[in-house]
Amino acid sequence: MNIKEICDGIYYVGVNDRTTHRFEALWPLPDGVSYNSYIVKGSAKTALIDGVELSACDRLRENLIATIGDVAPDYLVINHMEPDHSGSVRVLRSMFPDMTIVGNAKTLEMVRGFYGIADNVMRIADGDCIDLGGLSLKFVITPMVHWPETMMTYVAERKALFTGDAFGCFGALCGAVTDSDMNTEPYFPEMYRYYSNIVGKYGMFVGKALQKVANLEMDFICPTHGPVWHEQIDRVVSIYDRLSRYEGEDGVTIVYGSMYGNTEDMAEAIASRLAERGIRNIRMHNASVSHLSYILSDIFRYKGLIVGAPTYSNTLFPPVEAVMNAVKTRELKNRVIGTFGSFTWAPQAVKRINQLMDESKLYCDEVVSVEAKQAPGADAIAECRRLADSVADRILRS
Ligand code: FEO
Repeated sequence: MNIKEICDGIYYVGVNDRTTHRFEALWPLPDGVSYNSYIVKGSAKTALIDGVELSACDRLRENLIATIGDVAPDYLVINHMEPDHSGSVRVLRSMFPDMTIVGNAKTLEMVRGFYGIADNVMRIADGDCIDLGGLSLKFVITPMVHWPETMMTYVAERKALFTGDAFGCFGALCGAVTDSDMNTEPYFPEMYRYYSNIVGKYGMFVGKALQKVANLEMDFICPTHGPVWHEQIDRVVSIYDRLSRYEGEDGVTIVYGSMYGNTEDMAEAIASRLAERGIRNIRMHNASVSHLSYILSDIFRYKGLIVGAPTYSNTLFPPVEAVMNAVKTRELKNRVIGTFGSFTWAPQAVKRINQLMDESKLYCDEVVSVEAKQAPGADAIAECRRLADSVADRILRS
């Protein structure tokens, strides 16, 4: 049980999940995930902000009883309908039949579509308020962070913003809830991974949402996953701002495939030269070994991206093609690019990588490429070093 009073009248009643292996049946959860749910208790009315995943309903119910006793919340505010939060809606409705479900038009359409519930609902619009007595809920519609219905809820009296997936991260909570009560460092890599895996495609909408809430005073950011942000609000907002603009940090991600080590030798030569040139953040992923989740996280984080692969069945080595397709889906932009590869008799890999780079509109200037026939000799390794110089030059002068 993980109940905490975040501030006067606002309580955390969320649940940890250290059992599910893959979020959305896709993304690894080595440190679990939390489904954050909150109670806002005014002098007259009480609201539950967001629910939890279906399997976590029992624990949510225990947390609610421990927080507000046998009294039903008056409202369930749904900021986001993805079932990791809304999976509990039908159970909550049967527990609290008089509790009004609050959402915007798109939310309520999904409540009906997913759970067959259409009665005792309240449709709100952007800027609407609900008075709880001493505390109030103001709704800010922020579409596509991460679904079309997503919105945020602001409690002005406590300067607390409930943000849905925004500012969330993978990683279950380990005792404490608020950033001021824990070492948050393990959560930051998981914030990049969460953003790139789940929300990354919608950078433009995240940017619009950030602009929309920029003038709100914030003492607490209460997301649906991970810590409540209090002391480190500037840091998490700045990370989201940068990610939403697809602005990479200084550093290079090298993603490669290699069957027998020849393309890998090229990757090593490139990495070695980058390090000599002073690039300090170099992340290398063998696409046959690293999970896509972690590769995407680094590609979103760093400005340089160098992709290499051998030719396979007269086209691109499949694990690298999968990475390129995932990047293309997310509409990432503004990367400094290099590509490389090897072939035995038919040079196809680099051509295909470059074609996918073109389709993705991923790069900010030019694509520099190297391709080696069979084992890379001294000339090919020298070309790899020149490729690394080109990428380093462009990163260091940007
Ligand atoms: Fe945490 Fe988009 O769901």
